[in-house]
Amino acid sequence: MAAQEVSSPERREVFSSRMAFLLAAIGSAVGLGNIWRFPYVAYESGGGAFLVPYLLALLTAGIPLLFLDYALGHRYRGAAPLAFRRIKSWAEPVGWIQTGICFFITIYYAAIIAWAALYTVKSLNKAWGEVPQDYFFKSFLRMDDSQTFSTSIVPQIAVALAIVWIVAILVLAMGVDSGIGRASKIFMPILTVLFLIVVIAALFLPGAGTGLDALFTPRWEALKDPSIWVAAYGQIFFSLSVGFGIMLTYSSYLKPRTNLTGTGLVTGFANSSFELLAGIGVFAALGFMANQQNVAVDEVVSSGIGLAFIAFPTIINNMPMGAIFGTLFFGSLTIAGFTSLFSLLEVVVSGVKDKLNLERKTAAIGVGVAMALLSLALFSTTSGLVTLDIMDKFTNNVGIVAIALISIVVIDWILRRIDELALHLNAVSSFKVGTIWRICVVNVTTIVLGYTLLQELISLIKEPYGGYSHTQVLLYGWGVLAVVVLGSFMISVMPWKGNQPLQGPPGSDFGVDPNSLELSVERPQKYVPDNGDAVPATKEA
Ligand code: ALA
Repeated sequence: MAAQEVSSPERREVFSSRMAFLLAAIGSAVGLGNIWRFPYVAYESGGGAFLVPYLLALLTAGIPLLFLDYALGHRYRGAAPLAFRRIKSWAEPVGWIQTGICFFITIYYAAIIAWAALYTVKSLNKAWGEVPQDYFFKSFLRMDDSQTFSTSIVPQIAVALAIVWIVAILVLAMGVDSGIGRASKIFMPILTVLFLIVVIAALFLPGAGTGLDALFTPRWEALKDPSIWVAAYGQIFFSLSVGFGIMLTYSSYLKPRTNLTGTGLVTGFANSSFELLAGIGVFAALGFMANQQNVAVDEVVSSGIGLAFIAFPTIINNMPMGAIFGTLFFGSLTIAGFTSLFSLLEVVVSGVKDKLNLERKTAAIGVGVAMALLSLALFSTTSGLVTLDIMDKFTNNVGIVAIALISIVVIDWILRRIDELALHLNAVSSFKVGTIWRICVVNVTTIVLGYTLLQELISLIKEPYGGYSHTQVLLYGWGVLAVVVLGSFMISVMPWKGNQPLQGPPGSDFGVDPNSLELSVERPQKYVPDNGDAVPATKEA
């Protein structure tokens, strides 16, 4: 009987060193959010004064939730769906919702990397000409915002996007350590050097000081506005990649005895340092642009796509050695994007791999190709930008916030697992967590996320986002969220293939004793499918 129920579990892949994990985690955190989101959010939200809520958000939500993600992945040794299932079988959909959010972010994130990669090459001859805005919308994207779904493909974007997908699938197919770990060890030092050069070059531009003044001059009165605080927490969540399965998945590949909180602190502060550096570089460059055009900095400030693909080409046109600067800037954006893309895609690949008990290569290629085809269908056509904009808004501002909140409610308010996770963190880590961590995770983040979500939902319900048509918003915004939720429940009722055991009965002290961590990796566990809770394998079994 036991022989049927207990099969030998495949050993989970591991990062070969803490450094490989650290670089992968920092690579995941440092992405487009750091380079084009932070500078603008900081500027809009009180300038220098924003650093106060930002640092508070980092310390009270970002780092505590990073610890929580690390604890979940490390303790339950699975991607999000398996980890949540191991906590309680009915919680599996929570993991799939995280996976679904990553699925949709990944398919559009890849498109932005493809644009950045093309602009890296286009910088060499400043192919955008004198009017970067017209070039970007009309010639480059051939944007057609009247259509909900265009079948008219833009060839160069399709080719670049296909290449981005091939690279991502190859890296993931090579494995956690040989693929993601090795790519991070190569990409992260290159990114750091390239970006430092970009920032230093920007600082030497005439007008750079004006830009920095604009960014850092504190407007203290802004702190009275609750939306500034919401902005700070939102920035930290997206930028640190916490609460939607990414860090959870990466930490499931850590060796049993790994200093989780120490690693989390390094990741959190490295990400914020990069963010500040990006703020300095971007505003120095914007100061130069304002200086050239003889206008105030606030007239040239923009964020996201507008900053990267319109403001920067304008700056590059006017600065000395602009072609080199452009290549380095867009090259940095491409690399920063890639390392985040690997982590986003890994959430989906790892979730499916766990559920279907697939070989890594099969999972990476199967999942990767399916996602690549959808990504190409949606984002290499003339309606790509509209689809991307709506999907980005809904997955980020509603999806990430909602699922982070749901996870905390499920883990602590309903299942009361926070103490168990604290014990787990403390059993392996140098920096111990206690009451303050619990208050941050359970109380602070619940209040902030709940408030943020409510505000966001009210504004999205009041009027269609971005002035797009109801059909566009319904399909790529609300529709995507509905697919994620319904899909998650549907996948959850499908049976697990092979030997995906559950472990640790509720309230067990699994993880407190470092030896038991080793057992959890190596000892077969008995799967009890009817109630979903686990019974550790006995000697007889
Ligand atoms: N954390 C990643 C970013 O900042 C997703 O873009």
